[in-house]
Amino acid sequence: MLAVSDLHVSYGAINALSGVTFRIPKGAIVTLIGGNGAGKTTTLRTISGLLRPKRGTVTFKDEGISNLPAHAIVSRGLCHVPEGRMVFSNLSVEENLAMGAYLQRDRARIAETRAYVFSVFPRLQERLRQVAGTLSGGEQQMLAIGRALMGNPSFLMLDEPSLGIAPRLIATIFEKIVEINRSHGITILLVEQNANLALEVSSYAYVLETGRVVMEGPSDQLKHDPQLRATYLGG
Ligand SMILES: Nc1ncnc2c1ncn2[C@@H]1O[C@H](COP(=O)(O)OP(=O)(O)O)[C@@H](O)[C@H]1O
Ligand SMILES: [Mg+2]
Repeated sequence: MLAVSDLHVSYGAINALSGVTFRIPKGAIVTLIGGNGAGKTTTLRTISGLLRPKRGTVTFKDEGISNLPAHAIVSRGLCHVPEGRMVFSNLSVEENLAMGAYLQRDRARIAETRAYVFSVFPRLQERLRQVAGTLSGGEQQMLAIGRALMGNPSFLMLDEPSLGIAPRLIATIFEKIVEINRSHGITILLVEQNANLALEVSSYAYVLETGRVVMEGPSDQLKHDPQLRATYLGG
């Protein structure tokens, strides 16, 4: 469904990605793991059209998208839940969700999607009128994911959904990620520093180090890889 090939991206003189290649089949949860500064966020921002690659291509549903503007990529069904959640903190939960549906025209479909989002995250329905900035970190993450779902994506990219969230809610959010994949067949690219969790919910994983893929394989194999365990899973 998505193929990234030989992606090179730099910020001025700093090379953030030096030839990143991976592919994600339809219906899968694939994870990209790596430490701080490895290039995970840069990869997602490039796929979303927020950064332009110096070299390489991004192909989504057999179409080259690396030269498309970000809004055109979203409208093709590829949504990005950014690192740090980035909800509109002065708007209510309801208004945040409405923003996620800004490209949708069919009112009945919007209502249907809203009902689906509430079925996944009942807490969002309970807090509909609450201002997003006063939600807990975990609730804001739910809202960020819910807002992305309002755009009816076929492909969802999640940038470190576990970051800065209470452990109790992390488990919930990962269960929901699996539920979204299973119930709606949404393909998911999950970016995580938390390799343990990411390998638990994904079927295939790529390991990124200083802008390069240094290892890849089925998640249940990588979980037992001694080198990976030593570096990312605390031995
Ligand atoms: N806006 C920026 N300006 C300059 N360098 C950046 C910027 N954003 C990221 N970088 C650098 O690019 C590299 C990859 O960063 P990033 O993609 O954010 O990694 P990760 O998400 O894996 O932590 C790092 O060396 C980082 O310092
Ligand atoms: Mg990052």
